[in-house]
Amino acid sequence: MPSISRRSILAGASGSVITAALATPAIAQGVPLKIGLMLPFSGTFAALGEAIASAFDLHLKELDGKMGGRPVELVRVDDESNPAKAPSLVNRLLGRDKVDALVGTVHSGVVMALVQAAREQQLPLIIPNAGNVAATRELCAPSVFRSSFSNWQPAYGMGKALAAKGVKKAAWVTWDYAAGKESGDGFGDGLRSGGAELTKVLTLPFPETNFQPILAQLPGLGVEAVGAFFAGGGAIQFVKDYAAAGLREKLPLCGSGFLTEGVLKPQGAAAEGLQTALHYGDGIDNPKNIAFRAAFKSFSTHDADVYAVQGYDAAQMLAVGLAATKGDASAVKDFAAAIRAATIDSPRGAFTVSASHNPIQTIWLREARNGENRVVGPAVEALADPGTGCTMT
Ligand code: PHB
Repeated sequence: MPSISRRSILAGASGSVITAALATPAIAQGVPLKIGLMLPFSGTFAALGEAIASAFDLHLKELDGKMGGRPVELVRVDDESNPAKAPSLVNRLLGRDKVDALVGTVHSGVVMALVQAAREQQLPLIIPNAGNVAATRELCAPSVFRSSFSNWQPAYGMGKALAAKGVKKAAWVTWDYAAGKESGDGFGDGLRSGGAELTKVLTLPFPETNFQPILAQLPGLGVEAVGAFFAGGGAIQFVKDYAAAGLREKLPLCGSGFLTEGVLKPQGAAAEGLQTALHYGDGIDNPKNIAFRAAFKSFSTHDADVYAVQGYDAAQMLAVGLAATKGDASAVKDFAAAIRAATIDSPRGAFTVSASHNPIQTIWLREARNGENRVVGPAVEALADPGTGCTMT
């Protein structure tokens, strides 16, 4: 990925150097705080981006449109889940739009441009989905927090739950990019923690959905179960194709919970009975979740899912950090200290963040029944990402 240099950021999309961005005047009363909201609003992850944005808007409305005492102005950008376009979109947000803070995104490859800019510019960034482990491992930074998960976490829970059922050998099927690879690593670690093995990983390029060549190989692998990471439109297709190939009876399918999250309706009978693991699910009956689900439904007309929860919590985390700095997004030390010390009252259940700024959270085993991802029980409680390599300089 091309480096986003300070100069290229200041030069912005037009190429003219924007010197005003170098000056940091005191926060004037009433000057809007600009937040760049970079998400996919088209492509296979479009519904995920919409859910995150709606829930972010919902919490902003609950805060009367203000964070840290300043009115918030959102600048929305569609990143199309296209890593090649990400650096120039981020440059535009910083150079032309001069945002004070960043929120984004869904795709693990695209998020790297946001992480790089936030690290270089010491700008607050809340990641409301993308699980790229580097963001909270070797590329961790004081101003970067995640309201979601690391790719490793849900898949680790699934591997552990599968091993506990007595499965000894399993395969992992996914897209060939960071989220697929890292969730496969988590699945393998979870299997090994229970004495089982990950013996094969099969991939196809993101966001392709021609699953037939992979499905044809599965019966010959000598495994007892198949785990998968797919999400959004790709997850709908994969679950349907898996069932249509007659594999459900021979090789139980499971996965990171994204496989069935927010997509049970279009998956229909093909998803019935599928077990997945995630940091959210249907039947989490804490008062916060009950209130959130009702509020989100009337605000957006959609049912809440994990993406909505993560968008809502991204707004909560940003508001906590900015309240501590009275709306000064450049006061990164105080911003970070406040979020690190906070317990976020999430619909998933209250959480704190690890030393590398990733949620410590319970991963639930769920089962798809009658259009719901019903919680069966905890796969792993209070799970932190290993967070290796984070030195937070
Ligand atoms: C990712 O690319 O990190 C990603 C995308 C969609 C998901 C989960 C993770 O549902």
